[in-house]
Amino acid sequence: MKDPKNAPNKLLTKLEKNELLQKKNEEALLGGGQKRIEAQHKKGKLTARERLDFFLDPGTFQEIDKFVMHRTKDFGLDKEHYLGDGVITGYGQVNGRLVYVFSQDFTVFGGSLSETHAEKICKIMDMAMKNGAPVVGLNDSGGARIQEGVNSLGGYADIFYRNTLASGVVPQISAIMGPCAGGAVYSPAITDFILMVENTSYMFVTGPNVVKTVTQETVTAEELGGASAHSTKSGVTHFACANEIACLDHIKQLLSYLPQNCEETAPVYPYEKQEDESRPVLDELIPDNPNHPYDIREAIAGIVDSESFLEVHENYADNIVVGFARIAGRSIGIVGNQPQSMAGVLDNHASTKAARFVRTCDSYNVPLLVLVDVPGFLPGTDQEWNGIITNGAKLLYAFSEATVPRVTVITRKAYGGAYDVMNSKHIGADLNFAWPTAEIAVMGAKGAAEIIFKKEIAEAEDPETKLQEKVDEYTAKFANPYRAAHRGFIDEVILPSQTREKLISAFAMLENKVDKIPRKKHGNIPL
Ligand code: HXC
Repeated sequence: MKDPKNAPNKLLTKLEKNELLQKKNEEALLGGGQKRIEAQHKKGKLTARERLDFFLDPGTFQEIDKFVMHRTKDFGLDKEHYLGDGVITGYGQVNGRLVYVFSQDFTVFGGSLSETHAEKICKIMDMAMKNGAPVVGLNDSGGARIQEGVNSLGGYADIFYRNTLASGVVPQISAIMGPCAGGAVYSPAITDFILMVENTSYMFVTGPNVVKTVTQETVTAEELGGASAHSTKSGVTHFACANEIACLDHIKQLLSYLPQNCEETAPVYPYEKQEDESRPVLDELIPDNPNHPYDIREAIAGIVDSESFLEVHENYADNIVVGFARIAGRSIGIVGNQPQSMAGVLDNHASTKAARFVRTCDSYNVPLLVLVDVPGFLPGTDQEWNGIITNGAKLLYAFSEATVPRVTVITRKAYGGAYDVMNSKHIGADLNFAWPTAEIAVMGAKGAAEIIFKKEIAEAEDPETKLQEKVDEYTAKFANPYRAAHRGFIDEVILPSQTREKLISAFAMLENKVDKIPRKKHGNIPL
């Protein structure tokens, strides 16, 4: 029999043509070949197809452009072709919901991005935009296909452009499962979420060799741009995952809190109203001493559906906690000051972390719950010179422009400008609750007494006693939620143990909220 792979088409019978298709399909499945697949496994990595197999619901993957090949003739590439050209693209389902995917195949030219490789990614991004479904990219690439020069650079730019146009339209999620270096990092950077796999992935604009030449620093790829560095130091990645399976599971979980696109709301999961015995008792949470810390995650656990909290940016700027959860089956985004880290103060990193999260939630119609226990903004030259004015303004701006349902609970401190910023009534929050332990004032009682009673204290026979007297006076007047409640700035003062039920009602009541910001081209958030 003729070898159907090589025989000219016109000489083949119908049966042989079918066999040719089957052979091509089998060839495509092998990517860069068995040896390179084994090398990939040896590095502790799955192949591009194995990743998709695990990620998508069984039998749902529909591949597109499986037979695309590069068009390069330089540097001997006219003799080296692989079906698919280093990226597997298509669509499928995750938990029954449509998702578009691309998965870079490191076994083909190191997953490097050629013009055609980029065209494949752009094609599915265009489809995702037209049909309103998320795009998940599994990145594992040596960067620009070096033999292609500017064609490859153009391909990257075509992707960056689409990332930007799709931003806020459909969720975009980037998993980094191998190298992602040079300008290539800017596609994930524009997407909504980045996840990195510990020890097998890295991201940097310039690698260790260039760093050594330019700055004389000696650093490994892992130290410079591994999951640990980017989840703790730079905040570039939202999640650091122990392995590839954990990473893919995280993406599935993340998608469950998000709608398919900006016109929809996230799915509501069945919820049975039953009290969970293991839920923390919130009435005991706040320490009697207002300077003692507690874990805001305990408050979150006492409010949301059991086991539903997915923390984002867990190890970065931990003086603020952000993440998704469900309350009576509805998806919400939570922003909470964390009193057990730097007393929950707002600094540069916490402000930008929270601002980005607020904007992500608002883009995709995820209602916001804000838990406030904030002593103010962090003072100091480091903060001022690194732009706490601009960065704090980002959070203020993000809350102010958010039109999703917004509910605030002040658990303890709400001081100074941070009171205004943390989703106060004045900047458009829908419902503001406070616990009896709330302290809402311009500043802490001691600082306030020292300023406004400066003369009186200095002239007193016993300045120490006088100061304490004035601190007590200020505390009695302002370190409570009632002044704000008298003005309607707080809608209701509630017991901590009532919070969950109050919030279930609040978010149900706000479900059909319609709010509009003035017509504009786009706002000019301080960057
Ligand atoms: C073409 C590439 C390639 C690339 C790797 N390969 N990177 N082919 N273009 N960019 C090929 C290798 O020739 C090899 O082919 C196979 O992929 C596997 O590569 P190895 O080096 O054997 O693998 P490993 O030891 O794991 O090292 C991986 C690597 C290294 C660290 C990624 O390959 C590397 O440094 N590559 C070059 C990275 C780079 O400088 N890229 C350009 C960056 S600039 P065979 O046939 O042996 O299997 C850039 C600009 C983007 O990306 C700008 C956008 C605006």
